[in-house]
Amino acid sequence: MWMVATTSLAGKVKTLVRAAGEGITDAADFLRAGQLVAFATETVYGLGADATQAAAVRRIYKVKRRPADNPLIVHVLNQQQAEDYAVGFDDVARILARRFWPGPLTMVVGHGSKIPPEVSAGTPTMAVRCPSHWAAQRLLASLGRPIAAPSANLSGHVSPTTAADVLAELGGRIPLILDGGRCRVGVESTVIDLTVDPPVVLRPGSVTVEMIRAALRRKLGTRVRAIGTSSMSGNAVSKSPGMSKRHYAPVTPTYRYLREEWHQVRAWLNRYRPRARVVRLSCEKSGAAGGQEVLIHLSANGEQCARHLYKNLRTADSRGYDLILVEMPPDRGHVWTAIRDRIRRASQEWPP
Ligand code: TXA
Ligand code: MG
Repeated sequence: MWMVATTSLAGKVKTLVRAAGEGITDAADFLRAGQLVAFATETVYGLGADATQAAAVRRIYKVKRRPADNPLIVHVLNQQQAEDYAVGFDDVARILARRFWPGPLTMVVGHGSKIPPEVSAGTPTMAVRCPSHWAAQRLLASLGRPIAAPSANLSGHVSPTTAADVLAELGGRIPLILDGGRCRVGVESTVIDLTVDPPVVLRPGSVTVEMIRAALRRKLGTRVRAIGTSSMSGNAVSKSPGMSKRHYAPVTPTYRYLREEWHQVRAWLNRYRPRARVVRLSCEKSGAAGGQEVLIHLSANGEQCARHLYKNLRTADSRGYDLILVEMPPDRGHVWTAIRDRIRRASQEWPP
């Protein structure tokens, strides 16, 4: 019945949004039939396909308009399933899995033969993650196989953190969205590459490099690198193409500035763009906006700020402003590293 419901009339698909609790079995049926399903995870919504079906995986790239050289994350039910489908899941991976799974940590290990090469864009490696969100867990359990899933947005856009966001991005392109509420973490998982020595954090997330180092201290000491540090070569950057600079970005021109630069920014606007309708995102509570300017408050609490960052960027993007200005929060470590990383990717540096 569900398959009939999705039959395309004018090349378009009818997208159903269902409460995750009620849609799991149908979602697993769709995945088995080679269709795509968007589902909630604790970080952001994922656009899932049965990771063992090459044609379904190719469909992800098509629907997202994702470049074919950007590999996908394979979501697994538990550590056992990761070990069944990946290769080179070694002691370091096991320590990290015991400490952080299920949860927002993705590990790059060796590509297993049961997973088609399309998942990893032809590279000999494979990213695996065990999500903690109950809907993702139940979907994985119901399917009984891993799910390949990037974030459920069009390539380059801001990741979705609610079912409504997914509908806005992918409505008419996929048959089903499993609504599991607002994502708790709000920024994508930490990605660590374990195929290099020492391991490298390719994408910061709510599992921080300090937390990883603490977990691996007895095994590796502090020999875990974070991308972007001076000791990193450019190679690791190109290893994870999704980490290319412009990414996670609103459509409206978006600039970042430092708090101490605000008066200069204001003066520049008055002079060159006096009529521009501006929306500003800032952790500052006051600094009241006036005239053409609207202020969106970012929480000064790291977890809260991360949880609502993409929602705030989407709100800013959806209201027809001419410019989005984001005040870069100070680097206070922890999840702020990930927040600052995503703001950098969403914006260009001031001045234009
Ligand atoms: O939190 C998340 O990770 C979300 C949810 C849905 O799980 N997924 C997500 O997927 O953010 P995506 O495709 O938007 O980002 C995956 C990142 C990309 O930067 C990609 O290049 C990198 O992981 N990646 C995937 N496979 C890789 C591999 N084999 N080697 C290096 N990087 C890889
Ligand atoms: Mg993404």
